[in-house]
Amino acid sequence: MHKKTPETVIVVDFGSQYSHLIARRIRELNVYSKIVSYKITPEEIKQMNAKGIILSGGPASVCVSDAPHCNNKVLFTDIPILGICYGLQLGSQILGAKIKPSKNREYGKTKCTVKDHSSLFDSIDKTISVWMSHGDQVLELPDDFQSLAYTENCPYAAIRHKKKEFYGVQFHPEVTHTPSGSQILHNFLFKICHCTGDWSMSSYIDRSIKEIQEQVGRERVICGLSGGVDSTVTAAIIYKAIGSKLACIFVDNGLLRSNESECVIETFKKNFKVDLHFVDASDRFLNRLSSVSDPEQKRKIIGHEFIDVFKEESKKLADINYLAQGTLYPDIIESISAHGGPTAKIKSHHNVGALPAELGFELVEPLKDLFKDEVREIGSELGLPDEIIWRHPFPGPGLAIRIIGEVTEDRLEILRYADEIMINEIQSAGLYKKIAQAFAVLLPVSTVGVMGDERTYENVIALRAVDTLDFMTADWVRLPHDLLAKISNRIINEVRGVNRVVYDISSKPPSTIEWE
Ligand code: XMP
Repeated sequence: MHKKTPETVIVVDFGSQYSHLIARRIRELNVYSKIVSYKITPEEIKQMNAKGIILSGGPASVCVSDAPHCNNKVLFTDIPILGICYGLQLGSQILGAKIKPSKNREYGKTKCTVKDHSSLFDSIDKTISVWMSHGDQVLELPDDFQSLAYTENCPYAAIRHKKKEFYGVQFHPEVTHTPSGSQILHNFLFKICHCTGDWSMSSYIDRSIKEIQEQVGRERVICGLSGGVDSTVTAAIIYKAIGSKLACIFVDNGLLRSNESECVIETFKKNFKVDLHFVDASDRFLNRLSSVSDPEQKRKIIGHEFIDVFKEESKKLADINYLAQGTLYPDIIESISAHGGPTAKIKSHHNVGALPAELGFELVEPLKDLFKDEVREIGSELGLPDEIIWRHPFPGPGLAIRIIGEVTEDRLEILRYADEIMINEIQSAGLYKKIAQAFAVLLPVSTVGVMGDERTYENVIALRAVDTLDFMTADWVRLPHDLLAKISNRIINEVRGVNRVVYDISSKPPSTIEWE
């Protein structure tokens, strides 16, 4: 199968927490970017239609012997290179510079003076604010190099090689704390690498449709819908490619949020004439969960039950060989990094909702090159409603892991209503899109309250709202007190069986986002 690869700028990953961000910034400038392991070979790079190489930062020190090193030959292809932080140190070390731990570690916002405004610093002010985070720095530069910028503590805050297209910045242009960072990356992409900027969401849709058609031919594809943005956009793009040959299965496990199944069904009916198979399996799931309190036990039961229901339904749809899945790019890079990146990230395996390989389907994964916000952009281009595109992520085991202790119909009803109030109020305050995930949790304790002249002894609801880029680390959102007061008042007044509301102010780590 022939695929026209867009021009690519690769990010060689040395374990920086910002590698994802570098790739995102480049894509925002309409150039496709891919993160690759630092073990990549020059031959592999050549096969990728690479127009530029970025060496990422990283937590290691180039001064220690076991620091991650790329193949030295990567520095000697004729593809332009930009080293960022550790990438500058490693690249310049390979090209003859001396690096040493600096006396004063630089961390945070720093004033930087630009000496040379050609190429990398074109259209950039003489004095800029940059984000620094380094312990080592260049001590001596060979004559082949030129210093482009400096800070009070760092004479080589930006450098270039005089004969090769190698540039380095000691600061982080990819973070928002470096306001001119985007222009610096723009200069690297368009003035140094001579990219044309052929990456856009509409070109991605066109390319993806062609690829799906080539992959599946005239065959049918099955897709499990969860109501979340990833599976919905996956179904929408496949529908554009093969129309009625797509069959979707949507399982209501009884653990969904208020109005969730109605919203998904309506969206699909209104927007597509897709062959939608709705299975109400609530009783089945709730029976299996009866008297179960242990979180992992709940996850296992729900996962197994889902696979059983999906198998039964897919058997009814004979002769389907392809299964569509909403795998995203970060899912793939996380697994690469766990198998060889310098900071093997440990992600707990949330495989509820994923289907096992022995089902025998060939996978169709049209979103596997995309970040979450790009998926939202595609969803928007495909005309999906905001309600689905901007919906916060929801775990496969659903409300079962937000009801601490046993899951019952009554407790589900309490939680659904409280959650709905919280989300509605956050939406009315115009904050929903600014928060990564917000939800209510039903606790397994009763507390004393007073309503009118009566003593009450009822449930407690905890509210959780977090900000995060990657869901691996997260901070709690400083919701305005007035908003919290409104949510709390409404829940206590409107949700029967609740007399207390608390707000979770823990970050991840050491806490997790979900309570179970
Ligand atoms: P934690 O609680 O691990 O959550 O900090 C990180 C992100 O993962 C979601 N999550 C799950 N998703 N099945 C899923 O599909 C699960 O079992 C599961 N547990 C947590 C959570 O909602 C958050 O977005």
